[in-house]
Amino acid sequence: MKIWILHDSHYGNGEKLAEQLADIFKKMAFEVKIGNVKFVKPAQVAKEAPEGLVVGAALRMFMASPASKRWLRKFNREQKKRQQAVNFGCCFLTHVWKRERCTLQGKRLVKALQKTTTIKKVFPEWLSGRVETAEGPLTKETIKSIQEFGERILSWIK
Ligand SMILES: Cc1cc2nc3c(=O)[nH]c(=O)nc-3n(C[C@H](O)[C@H](O)[C@H](O)COP(=O)(O)O)c2cc1C
Repeated sequence: MKIWILHDSHYGNGEKLAEQLADIFKKMAFEVKIGNVKFVKPAQVAKEAPEGLVVGAALRMFMASPASKRWLRKFNREQKKRQQAVNFGCCFLTHVWKRERCTLQGKRLVKALQKTTTIKKVFPEWLSGRVETAEGPLTKETIKSIQEFGERILSWIK
């Protein structure tokens, strides 16, 4: 069973978060692939028909990266063409602001996944990937919460 994790990381924090999440999924025998939305084509991921999809975005200029949302829409179209769906999806958002200040953007990202008709179930919460400064690193709280989030996802998909 395969999970794809996409991110839109400029400074490497979103990528690091994706790698830590991947390690948790790998322990449960998932094959995990990680890629940047700029370089991985939605058609390629759809072709591999993964079981799960994790979409990450970064909060920049008050909004979640449009590139991640565009990727998701294209992925949906590719899935529709192939008449297939992924079983589950979830998302994360990296940001500098306090988590409470990003609630709207986080919820919108979850909504973007829910609008995607080819993801059967969407985890209703988003993982907050707070960074200490724009260039990182991830805060200690974030590193702790990645583990917790990953474990919750695993029990939710059982
Ligand atoms: C041009 C720019 C605008 C940003 N605007 C915001 C913002 O509005 N709110 C926020 O919390 N972080 C903001 N940030 C910080 C980014 O969220 C942070 O750089 C990113 O999440 C780090 O992830 P990455 O290393 O994967 O790129 C901004 C960063 C840049 C470069």
